[in-house]
Amino acid sequence: MARVIRAPSEVVLKITSVKGMNDVLPTAEGEESPFNSRIWENVEGVVRETFRRFAFDRVRTPVVEEAQLFARSVGEATDIVGKEMYTFPDRSGKKVLALQPEGTAGAARAFVEHGLGMRDPVQRWWYLGPMFRHERQQRFRYRQFYQVGAESFGVAAPEADVEILAICNTILRELGLEGIELRLNSLGDAECRPAYLELLTAYLRKHADELCGDCRDRLERNPLRVLDCKNEGCRAVTTGAPASYDHLCAPCSEHFERVQAGAKALGIAYRLDSRLVRGLDYYTRTAFEFLASALGSGQQTAVCGGGRYDALVKMLGGPDTPATGFGMGVERICALLAQAKGIPAAHPALFVALGDEAARDRAMALATEARNAGLSAEIDLRGGKLARQLSRADKRGARFAVVLGTTELETGVARLKELATGQATEVALVNLVGELAARLARR
Ligand code: HAM
Repeated sequence: MARVIRAPSEVVLKITSVKGMNDVLPTAEGEESPFNSRIWENVEGVVRETFRRFAFDRVRTPVVEEAQLFARSVGEATDIVGKEMYTFPDRSGKKVLALQPEGTAGAARAFVEHGLGMRDPVQRWWYLGPMFRHERQQRFRYRQFYQVGAESFGVAAPEADVEILAICNTILRELGLEGIELRLNSLGDAECRPAYLELLTAYLRKHADELCGDCRDRLERNPLRVLDCKNEGCRAVTTGAPASYDHLCAPCSEHFERVQAGAKALGIAYRLDSRLVRGLDYYTRTAFEFLASALGSGQQTAVCGGGRYDALVKMLGGPDTPATGFGMGVERICALLAQAKGIPAAHPALFVALGDEAARDRAMALATEARNAGLSAEIDLRGGKLARQLSRADKRGARFAVVLGTTELETGVARLKELATGQATEVALVNLVGELAARLARR
């Protein structure tokens, strides 16, 4: 195992974050806007509220799992497992562990481990957590990134897929994001996929000379992945490739029809995309992605992806359990929000500035009263120059500011100033929080 190299303690050592792993801070903007913590707060609020409305339960599974869980679920031949997973030996030396590259495998593992198939096979879960993939450095591709995800176990009906689509759609709509396109495909199941793969492989073999080196490789190992190669030559070939949704068995075909009808009935617009195959092997039938063009230079970028994985739970030793879900990239959503709406300020309702040191206790009491009334309040506890304190109130985007000093304490009256208009009114200190609440309610 690698040893941590320690510098002598008298040497000042400047350590930066690991490449591809980012701090999420309130000050982030511009290129860093995917990591602005205020935008994250908005996203998390909308996500939590959406799952409340859909009656999904939040779960938390460990960030570390046995590496073989992902090898079995996501697939040995995938880039995620083959090239990108962070693996390390357990200290006992007996197991190889991995930082989770995605959330579905851990959720399915937990479903099986706790015997939920017997107890209550219908489980509708959501999670929000960090995922780790050692990806090539690229815009909007990080080595630690966060996913909001949902996994719905136990329902084979296509409407469970529609519900998953509806959750994604609701989150995007409630965040006010536009210009995101839903792409839909069906990858069939164990009945019809083998015949489709034969057909696809035969077609691709005929065009092998026109494919890139990687795809010539994939052709034999994982022909579906040739369909989503971005190389122009490969794209020209795959334009004419047979589409899986044209070669489904009757039950898969009916399922796909009902997913589409369900989406239409809920007003969820989509486009069929025969090239959408996903980079994880566990999918059966429905597969989808939400793509945003605003993130890419020419190329659309997925903000969300998911689908059905009816075989996974059984493969992990559980009972036959249909399942469907999605994962959404939080940083990508935040980048879109920063582009569309900018970076929000903190916006405390009340900013209390100290006119002089005598007012410290009263300022604390006033802020406490405001907070107990449910209003956000900030005090500039540095005190000192008033101009500096008030410029901070501006910077923080405070709605109202009040200065408390000896005069205000003596008279029991202070000037409550609305920062956007500059309008100030004299208010008795004992009524200040009530007055503030009334004014905020009126706006
Ligand atoms: P995924 O398509 O691999 O699916 O990831 C879902 C989303 O996570 C992507 O659409 C993207 O927004 C975000 N994402 C993925 N990799 C990165 C990265 N390196 N940097 C930033 N964002 C990234 C899954 O992980 C499946 N577990 C989804 C699922 C759940 N399917 C069924 N249930």
